[in-house]
Amino acid sequence: MILLIAHHKGGVGKSTLAINLAVALQQRGERVHVLETDPTVSTTSRWADDREDAGRTPVITTRKQGRLAATLKELEKQNDIVLIDTAGKDSPEMRSAMTAADILLVPTGTSQADLDSTLDLAATIEAARDYNEKLKALIVIARASTHAMSDEVQEAREYLSVFPTEASVANVVVHHRKSYQSTLSEGISVVESKDSKAKAEIQLLAQEILALKDEVR
Ligand SMILES: Nc1ncnc2c1ncn2[C@@H]1O[C@H](COP(=O)(O)OP(=O)(O)OP(=O)(O)O)[C@@H](O)[C@H]1O
Ligand SMILES: [Mg+2]
Repeated sequence: MILLIAHHKGGVGKSTLAINLAVALQQRGERVHVLETDPTVSTTSRWADDREDAGRTPVITTRKQGRLAATLKELEKQNDIVLIDTAGKDSPEMRSAMTAADILLVPTGTSQADLDSTLDLAATIEAARDYNEKLKALIVIARASTHAMSDEVQEAREYLSVFPTEASVANVVVHHRKSYQSTLSEGISVVESKDSKAKAEIQLLAQEILALKDEVR
């Protein structure tokens, strides 16, 4: 299965989700290969190197730019999940991966600008579906406030309910937590950290993705 994490906006948390989900999915017995397609920023492969240096179970991560179809076909034969992390812009890699992916995971912030930008992605998803009918889109609210009184998640859900093409919004919400930042620089995942709340949200997101995977197969 090909799991693509993409957004044409930078800094929404794509690479953070990629590395955390890679470890969570690996822990559930899935053979995972991470493909990083960002030509300039190498957050994910650098993290994977740090991880090896830290003596942790490796997450196989390679980099590839340009057209991805042939590479993806090969990687899919040898793995259960090929997880693609893309650059935070409308790139040829993002478009190429969308024509091959089974599941597109779209992290979104909760600000009006973030939500508007996420809605703008619908046209690109729709265009990819001309070539790739099976593409399922799963939007995940990410970096949400942990403030108990905040109603931003509810408001974001209402806003996303009019997403202009078929997509579901994940039940789990990924919050803004320091552990996502500290683990990134340590080469580990939050599922290996002491932050049980972050761990639970990533494990639940992995579960939602695996449930969709079962629908795909
Ligand atoms: N849930 C979170 N809580 C706290 N910090 C986060 C969270 N998600 C991401 N960050 C931080 O936000 C910054 C951007 O995250 P990340 O690199 O994952 O985004 P990105 O979408 O991959 O960016 P780019 O488009 O540049 O590739 C990083 O410093 C990361 O540690
Ligand atoms: Mg990134």
